Amino acid sequence: MASASALRLSEISPLIVQSEIRSMSVECDRMGGVNLAQGVCDTGVPAPVAERALAAIEQGHNIYTRLDGIAVLRDAIAQKALRYNGIHADPESEVLVTSGATGAFYAACLALLNPGDEVLLFEPFYGYHANTLRAQRAVPVAVPLENGNWAIDFDRLRRAITPRTRALLINTPSNPCGKVFTREELAQIAAIVEEHDLIVFTDEIYEYFVFEGAQHVSFATLPGMASRTITISGLSKTFSITGWRVGYLIADRSVLGTIGYFHDLTYVCAPAPLQHGAAAGLVALPDEYYQAMARDYQSKRDLLCGALTRMGLTPSIPAGAYYVLADASRIAGANAREKARTLLAATGVAAVAGTAFFAEGRGENLLRFCFAKREEDLQRACDLLGKL
Ligand SMILES: Cc1ncc(COP(=O)(O)O)c(C=O)c1O
Repeated sequence: MASASALRLSEISPLIVQSEIRSMSVECDRMGGVNLAQGVCDTGVPAPVAERALAAIEQGHNIYTRLDGIAVLRDAIAQKALRYNGIHADPESEVLVTSGATGAFYAACLALLNPGDEVLLFEPFYGYHANTLRAQRAVPVAVPLENGNWAIDFDRLRRAITPRTRALLINTPSNPCGKVFTREELAQIAAIVEEHDLIVFTDEIYEYFVFEGAQHVSFATLPGMASRTITISGLSKTFSITGWRVGYLIADRSVLGTIGYFHDLTYVCAPAPLQHGAAAGLVALPDEYYQAMARDYQSKRDLLCGALTRMGLTPSIPAGAYYVLADASRIAGANAREKARTLLAATGVAAVAGTAFFAEGRGENLLRFCFAKREEDLQRACDLLGKL
């Protein structure tokens, strides 16, 4: 047996703690509550997606695929990217199928960043983005959005740039605040990244979850930006297949091959039969599928935001994605973690402490609720919130 001293953890290990989301989910399961903490997305998988994946298993598509993914899926992604996003991508050299958007970002960082490189993240941010950077010895630098309306303070963004800044990350629609970046905002960001010659990572996993008048704009479609942008997305949310681990990225051919080698090294490939399922969904599902999904999530958003408002947990109404940040000032607790636990104990509804999405010391008065739930579960959560 190794001596205790041989089992020293790496220097970065203390930075990577279990996410609040997972620990709230565990606690919620223990209590038999309704979990609005995690974006588990337990709605049904579209029939063409599930049927093709099952058929692919039976037809023997169970071995490693090409490291950049099967041709039918890369073709389907390139066509979808052109049709929906307006991005031109060659499926042979500019599309990489990955182990979820998570694997895409991990591999892209390995290929493009050096230890100590600073990467700008708008705050509130998705915890995995910050931790992926830390895990690779890069430095996440939070640029706070204006509280409540999530506007960008461009002076603040400029001030955050140092000689070590290498990249900027845009998550639109955003987890956790639901911000959908406008074309005007993206144009101003484009001018800044051009001036400072930065890489841009975009995480567009919620691209189809946009409500009312909001419109999803891909940063890579702004003039001159495609060559410096790594566009990341996936099917986890759109097809309710978070456990399948199928995502992708689109990048300039000059770097895509190397990102692919790093992805191969970490994940080898996305699950082969599930790649077939995802491709079938992209090819078969009409625009109406995506529009109906957005309408469905908008009504779930309204249901949850209504219940939160009635309880005095004033929500910031999201324009996209499927999370709500709500003001938790009236819930007892010294900090957001305690408030989340008070709420769970009092109502059986799990939410996540806002601090999970902010740099140290911020987000203490916020809780994040997820509405990617079956209608009846969400209704139950709204009823339970009434106990507060
Ligand atoms: C912003 C964001 N990116 C990526 C992911 C994970 O995507 P995937 O399942 O494709 O790895 C999530 C999941 O919650 C997310 O919120």
